[in-house]
Amino acid sequence: MAGWQARREPLVFAALLPTLIALSTAGDTLAPGYRLEDGSSLVSSDGSFKLGFFTPGKSNLRYLGISYNQISDQTVVWVANRNSPLPDRTGVLSFSSNGSLSLSDSKGVVYWSTPSTTPAWPVAKLLDDANFVVVGAGEGGYAWQSFDDPTDTLLPGMKLRVDRRTGFTRNFTSWKSDDDPGTGDYTLFIDSNGDPQIFLLQGTKLVWRSGPWVGEGFSGIPEMWNNDMFNFSFVPGTEEAYYLFNSRNKSVQSRLVVQPKGLIERRVWIQSRGNWTVFWSWPSDECDSFGHCGNFSVCDDNESPACSCLQGFEPNSPDNWNLRDAKDGCRRRTAVDCQNGTDGFVLVANTKLPDTSAAVVNENMGTKECWEACLRNCSCTAYATAEMIDGGRSRCILWSTALTDLRVYAEGGQNLFVRLARADLGTTGENYL
Ligand SMILES: *[C@@H]1O[C@H](CO)[C@@H](O)[C@H](O)[C@H]1NC(C)=O
Ligand SMILES: *[C@@H]1O[C@H](CO)[C@@H](O)[C@H](O)[C@H]1NC(C)=O
Ligand SMILES: *[C@@H]1O[C@H](CO)[C@@H](O)[C@H](O)[C@H]1NC(C)=O
Ligand SMILES: *[C@@H]1O[C@H](CO)[C@@H](O)[C@H](O)[C@H]1NC(C)=O
Ligand SMILES: *[C@@H]1O[C@H](CO)[C@@H](O)[C@H](O)[C@H]1NC(C)=O
Ligand SMILES: *[C@@H]1O[C@H](CO)[C@@H](O)[C@H](O)[C@H]1NC(C)=O
Ligand SMILES: *[C@@H]1O[C@H](CO)[C@@H](O)[C@H](O)[C@H]1NC(C)=O
Ligand SMILES: *[C@@H]1O[C@H](CO)[C@@H](O)[C@H](O)[C@H]1NC(C)=O
Repeated sequence: MAGWQARREPLVFAALLPTLIALSTAGDTLAPGYRLEDGSSLVSSDGSFKLGFFTPGKSNLRYLGISYNQISDQTVVWVANRNSPLPDRTGVLSFSSNGSLSLSDSKGVVYWSTPSTTPAWPVAKLLDDANFVVVGAGEGGYAWQSFDDPTDTLLPGMKLRVDRRTGFTRNFTSWKSDDDPGTGDYTLFIDSNGDPQIFLLQGTKLVWRSGPWVGEGFSGIPEMWNNDMFNFSFVPGTEEAYYLFNSRNKSVQSRLVVQPKGLIERRVWIQSRGNWTVFWSWPSDECDSFGHCGNFSVCDDNESPACSCLQGFEPNSPDNWNLRDAKDGCRRRTAVDCQNGTDGFVLVANTKLPDTSAAVVNENMGTKECWEACLRNCSCTAYATAEMIDGGRSRCILWSTALTDLRVYAEGGQNLFVRLARADLGTTGENYL
C-alpha cells in the first residue's frame, strides 16, 4: 500500500503544475507565467550567483536580492525591494508576458516591479556576472537589467557608467545600515562634466572625487597606479563614459562597495579564512575630503598643518586660516597680466589634479601646445597633460575656474602648471614649457 501511495504523489504534483508553477530548483530563467517563491532561487548557469529571498543582519524583514552562490557568508550584491521590504515569507516574484517582473505578497500587494517592456517571447534570466535581465527572443539588448538599477556594489565587468546622450547615470547608493538595505546617505557615480570623474556624494554634498583618469588609474587613487591584481578600464566616450574592473586572476573574487558610513571599499574574498578583507578604501585621509583646503590651495597629508596656499596666493580669511579652518581658501597676490605676455607658470609636482568638472580637455595635445593654449587665454588658470587611455599620446587639460581640491603626494601623481603674474613667479622666474 505504501508503495502505491508513493507512486501517486508525483502525479498529484503534476496535476497541480498548471495552476501553481513555482521554481524550487536551480534554473537561471523565469519564463512568462512562472513564479519564484520565498525559499526558492534562481542560480546563474555557472553557479556564481543566486537570486532569492533573504533577511539581512538583525532585521526580520524579507528582501529579494542577488548574492554569491559559492561563497559561504551571505554577501548580497543587489536588492530589488530595498525600500519596501516584505513583512513575511509569502513573497512571490512573478514574470508576466508583457515583460514585467513583479514582487508581491499573498494578498497581492506589490512591493517592487519593473516596467512592462513587451519584447517578443520575453524571459527573465540571471546571468553569470550577476546581471538579472529581461530579454526578448533574438533581441540584442536588454529590455530591463538590474545593472541599470544598482544597489551599493560594483562587480567585475559591471560598468560604472553615465550615458552622455540621455544623462542617465548608474548610482551606487549605500545601505542605511548593515541590517537595512534601504537607500542610505552615500552615492557613487560618474560625473561626465569636463574631464569625467567619479564622485561620492553624501546627500547632495560632494565629499570625495576620484580625479580624472590619467592613464593607469584615477589621479586621486594612487593605489591603482602600479597594481597588478586588477585590470581597470576607463572609457570617456562621447556616447557613454564608464569605468570597470576585472581581477587578473579569475579565481580572486572582488567587489567595490559603498558602505553605510561613506567609505568606498574594495573587498577581496579570502577563501582559506572564509571572509572578505578590505583591499583598499577611500576617502583615506583629510586631504581626500573634497575642498578641505578651499580654492587655490594645496593639501599635503605629510605636513602640519596640511593646507597651504599655492605659490603666489594668500589666505582669503587669515584669521580662520590660522585657526586651521582653510575652507575659505586663498586668493591671488598679484592679478595676472595677460596683456604683454609676462605671465608664467609655477610647477606643482606630484598632484592629485584639481577638480576637472569645469575643465576643458583637448585630445592629442602635447605639453608645448597645452602651455601655449593656456598662456594665450587670459581666463586659463592652470594646465596639465595626462596620458591617453591607450598610452602614448597625451591630452591637455585646461582650467579656467578656481583650482579646487588639489592635493600632493610624496611620490607619483601629475605635474600641474599654475598661472601666475610675473611678480609672483619668484626668483626662478619659471616660465614653463
Ligand atoms: C503587465 O502584466 C502584469 C501581470 O499580468 C500586470 O499586472 C501589469 O499591469 C501589466 N503591465 C502593463 C503595463 O500592462
Ligand atoms: C543619480 O544621482 C544624481 C546625483 O544625486 C542625480 O542627479 C541623478 O538623478 C541620479 N540618477 C538616477 C538614475 O537615479
Ligand atoms: C584587461 O586586460 C585584457 C587583456 O590584457 C583586456 O582585453 C581587457 O579589456 C582589460 N580590461 C578589463 C577591465 O578587463
Ligand atoms: C589565483 O588565485 C588563487 C587563489 O588566491 C591562487 O591559489 C592561485 O595561485 C592564483 N593564480 C595565479 C596564477 O596567480
Ligand atoms: C571577518 O572580517 C570581519 C571584518 O571585516 C571581522 O569582524 C570578522 O571577525 C571576520 N570573521 C572571521 C570569521 O574571520
Ligand atoms: C571656490 O571656487 C568656486 C569655483 O570658482 C566658487 O564657486 C566658490 O565660491 C569658491 N569658494 C570660495 C570659498 O571662495
Ligand atoms: C606689462 O608688464 C609689466 C610687468 O613686466 C607691467 O608692469 C605692465 O603693467 C604690463 N602692461 C600692461 C598693459 O598690462
Ligand atoms: C578661453 O577659455 C574659456 C574657458 O575655458 C573659453 O570659454 C574660451 O573659449 C577660451 N577662449 C579662447 C580664445 O580660446
